[in-house]
Amino acid sequence: MAAPKKVCIVGSGNWGSAIAKIVGLNAGRSSKFDSTVKMWVFEELVDGQKLTEIINTEHENVKYLPGHRLPENVVAVADLVEAVSGADILLFVIPHQFISRVCDTIRGKIKQDALGLSLIKGVDEGPDGLKLISEVIREKLGISVSVLMGANIANEVADEKFCETTIGSKDKAQGALLKDLMQTEHFRVTVVEEADVVEICGALKNIVAVGAGFCDGLGFGDNTKAAVIRLGLMEMIAFARLFCSAGPVSSETFLESCGVADLITTCYGGRNRRVAEAFAKTGRSLEELEKEMLNGQKLQGPATAAEVHIILKNKNLLDNGRFLTLRIPSHWMQCLMMMMMMMQCNSKLISQQLH
Ligand SMILES: NC(=O)c1ccc[n+]([C@@H]2O[C@H](COP(=O)([O-])OP(=O)(O)OC[C@H]3O[C@@H](n4cnc5c(N)ncnc54)[C@H](O)[C@@H]3O)[C@@H](O)[C@H]2O)c1
Repeated sequence: MAAPKKVCIVGSGNWGSAIAKIVGLNAGRSSKFDSTVKMWVFEELVDGQKLTEIINTEHENVKYLPGHRLPENVVAVADLVEAVSGADILLFVIPHQFISRVCDTIRGKIKQDALGLSLIKGVDEGPDGLKLISEVIREKLGISVSVLMGANIANEVADEKFCETTIGSKDKAQGALLKDLMQTEHFRVTVVEEADVVEICGALKNIVAVGAGFCDGLGFGDNTKAAVIRLGLMEMIAFARLFCSAGPVSSETFLESCGVADLITTCYGGRNRRVAEAFAKTGRSLEELEKEMLNGQKLQGPATAAEVHIILKNKNLLDNGRFLTLRIPSHWMQCLMMMMMMMQCNSKLISQQLH
């Protein structure tokens, strides 16, 4: 029988910690996986105590997932290289702006036949245009990478409220192994082959959520928000058809949890919608609102919007009526422009974070 696979979770924010509950449980009860799951924690002090120490003694991530007990076989490790060494499966679950630096730190220090699974929602913009986060990982580490995206607000997953998710994997055997690791009674996994489309959906829905937040902040009703969601979905499909040219882009993928379901949940419940609503209501800066409202968690929508804007601009696709169309209300457009201006002021900072 094959040796049990060692699993490492690279990241321990809100989603990383919710995933640690699932993976710890499954690894603890399946002979396919080593029962110890390492979780890399970006070390910080919480009330004067190291977060890793709190997690390893109290089995709770009191900062990013308070009120949820993590399985005792999940071990927090502050040293990134130590956490990933010897792992057969690496789950990447950090805000996308940190992925390049993390990969650079572990390059050459991981098993060469390790499998990656990216749960990161976002895109990068390289010299040739769009770059998926899975591509960044694949290129920097030379490993095979699948993705997991879906209508999965972390706190609800941690509460074991039923939900679905989508794994995108071009390799059937890898997809099946990752499904064994991730699926529980409450967290149902579907595996599809169009991994790039799954990932694009996960990134772009955060931009639409920002639009939904503007709608709420400007006092538009549910009908308007439904229109924003519908237009957003159309643009996600158009974007995927343009940029996922290496394989098919089928409508069915947008009907999986990673597509329409994630879009709906994010436009009603997610942090990007919440902060965008506050932005439209108060006009205060995104940094201020992120700091005040999210307790260390990171916003993804505005940074992804800025990256996608640059990608479309470089391809001369902004003014051809295909993207960011003028069908949307003008107040909403003003908010978007204001946010873009702020993001442009911050673009230096973003590019420093990205590279
Ligand atoms: N939270 C959700 O509901 C949810 C659901 C699905 C997917 N996601 C995606 O998962 C990814 C991770 O999000 P999250 O919610 O777990 O994170 P988070 O926003 O809750 O937490 C931020 C994390 O970043 C870490 N961090 C801060 N500075 C860092 C640095 N310089 N380098 C590395 N790490 C640093 C913090 O320690 C913390 O663990 C994102 O791409 C997000 O879009 C989140």
